[in-house]
Amino acid sequence: MRIGTPLSPSATKVMFLGAGELGKEVVIELQRLGVEVIAVDRYANAPGQQVAHRSHVIDMTDGKALRDLVLQERPHLIVPEIEAIATDELVKIEAEGLARVIPTARAAHITMNRERIRRLAAEECGLATSRYAFCSSLEDLQRAIDGGVGYPCFVKPVMSSSGKGQSKIKDADQVAKAWDYAMAAGRVKQALVIVESEIKFDFEITLLTVRHAGGTSFCEPIGHVQVDGDYVESWQPQAMSPLALERAREMAGKITDKLGGAGIFGVELFVKGDEVWFSEVSPRPHDTGLVTLATQHQSEFALHARAILGLPVDTRLRSPGASAVIYGGVEAKGIAFDGVAKALAVPDTDLRLFGKPESFKKRRMGVALARAETVDVARSNAKLSASLVKPIAP
Ligand SMILES: Nc1ncnc2c1ncn2[C@@H]1O[C@H](COP(=O)(O)OP(=O)(O)OP(=O)(O)O)[C@@H](O)[C@H]1O
Ligand SMILES: [Mg+2]
Repeated sequence: MRIGTPLSPSATKVMFLGAGELGKEVVIELQRLGVEVIAVDRYANAPGQQVAHRSHVIDMTDGKALRDLVLQERPHLIVPEIEAIATDELVKIEAEGLARVIPTARAAHITMNRERIRRLAAEECGLATSRYAFCSSLEDLQRAIDGGVGYPCFVKPVMSSSGKGQSKIKDADQVAKAWDYAMAAGRVKQALVIVESEIKFDFEITLLTVRHAGGTSFCEPIGHVQVDGDYVESWQPQAMSPLALERAREMAGKITDKLGGAGIFGVELFVKGDEVWFSEVSPRPHDTGLVTLATQHQSEFALHARAILGLPVDTRLRSPGASAVIYGGVEAKGIAFDGVAKALAVPDTDLRLFGKPESFKKRRMGVALARAETVDVARSNAKLSASLVKPIAP
């Protein structure tokens, strides 16, 4: 793909569907390469919109609105940044040759639904996963648990992300509540959940996997801590046995091959000793991969930008490092940040403040990044730096 001049007839145009903090970093990388960027989100002044050439606010789950905008903008590439998109319309848009979807429209369609991706991974690719079942009623759910999934287990709506509607249940008393919670939170009002047995892992990783013109490359594994389905801390590299790493790469290679296309994938895996289980995969930069802004020669965002343009990539680690999330802590619009100078005075740290127009207590508003000789030092510096940033209501 030849790169033209932005805002001219030769422009190479990329449209983002979703323009949060992850999209923002990819937009910046594309801007550096002279690509024309259009950022779409469901609210105005989303982080990625603030650095794009143009932006639009639409309901991306509305297939007609999506198609109308694509016809208006005529992008060469469409980059989904979130899951809640009318992916069936993307499949049609791609089939008609209107635009190329990253990595492919089919991959976006499969990965937005836990049933489709789990069946692909476990039943078609033969990857090890937790025991699971799909249930469309409370009775079904109880039957699946009694019939083999067992306790403790996780109940998740098939269409949801960031831990929404998800519960871990330990006994029969909690089943009905988990069902109701999943029904209230699912993205689509479809009565379907996945119930998964708990994997008792030593640690979990994100294995960033890039499909690019020269093949498939892997980043060093990223370790992370999740609280209520939301990442709070990540680091790279996560130490693991050579056999576990080999297995992790083999699994990530298999599933990303099935999904196809070009770009970065966040493959989530559970690890115990030499054993590895597949959890899920997202065909886009991963939130835990924010750490790569500090640790890699090319961050996951630079890798994504290069891979989708057909350019060479370099996944080498530059230094161990860590990231720690900065939450809003307050419910307010137009907040300010105190303590930024103190936070940046912590050795070898950096910050990203996403510029989100509205803060919620548990909304991710920024991230602290640290580089150090060891992951342990980087983790404590990242956490210290993050703790010094104080969001304040206006
Ligand atoms: N079967 C399981 N066994 C053990 N832990 C699990 C299991 N399923 C989920 N978890 C824990 O819950 C976290 C969130 O689960 P999952 O990734 O499926 O949800 P999600 O809503 O897609 O989250 P995100 O969008 O942040 O990735 C996992 O990272 C893991 O810590
Ligand atoms: Mg996950």
